[in-house]
Amino acid sequence: MSSTDADNVGEYLVSARSFAEYEAMFSLRPTDLAGRVLDCPAGASSFIAHAARIGALATAVDPVYAIAPLELRQFVLGEQDRGSAHTIAGSDRYVWDFYGDRDGHREMRPASAVMFADDIAAHPERYVAGSLPALPFDDGQFDLVLSSHFLFTYADRLDSEFHQRALVELLRVCRGEVRVFPLLDQGGHALGPMIEELLGRLRHGGTTTEVRPVAYEFQRGGNQMLVLSAR
Ligand SMILES: C[S@@+](CC[C@H](N)C(=O)[O-])C[C@H]1O[C@@H](n2cnc3c(N)ncnc32)[C@H](O)[C@@H]1O
Repeated sequence: MSSTDADNVGEYLVSARSFAEYEAMFSLRPTDLAGRVLDCPAGASSFIAHAARIGALATAVDPVYAIAPLELRQFVLGEQDRGSAHTIAGSDRYVWDFYGDRDGHREMRPASAVMFADDIAAHPERYVAGSLPALPFDDGQFDLVLSSHFLFTYADRLDSEFHQRALVELLRVCRGEVRVFPLLDQGGHALGPMIEELLGRLRHGGTTTEVRPVAYEFQRGGNQMLVLSAR
């Protein structure tokens, strides 16, 4: 794989992060999960399945939930292989500590995808097909919205205007905090000027913005989340 391939995974990857990764990326504490939680986009993450198991009211949204469950199961398992190949191709860009080593990372994702596939088959009501920047939810329907590895990650193809519309939409459906991680693109590049301009526009529109450090870093330098709330 060339260095360009390590920079760009190709089609949107339907990845399957675990609850432990979400906890770390978003500095989640049990009280954060006391209200209604939205994961957008959730892909094949097992966050929802795990959160429901510990009593949280959690909903996932992603365009891939329009795919029939059996086909989706096969598809998301294949996606974890594609994701691992992409990560290994650029392995010096990552900090492996959270996973122990590369095998720890490679094994976590398929396990998470299987948990997701079992959960969507058993509890389809938790999984809603939908896309940013227009979500099929009411205003203020959720107390916490989590958004991992879509916004900023795909800044190569989603422009600043899309990001603004998407963030405003996440704020619309949320009466608490919107948390976004990471603030790097998929090649691990910082997006300082784009993010500063975007945050300036959001603040101008009445949103409180904060860039908060988190105790998780996989992409080198990717240890910050964006926290937004309506003023
Ligand atoms: C890298 S995955 C992230 C999944 C999950 N949050 C995680 O961290 O494992 C990116 C997801 O974005 C979804 N996606 C693509 N276009 C989208 C859109 N317009 N709105 C919302 N999600 C989209 C893809 O289907 C894919 O599941």
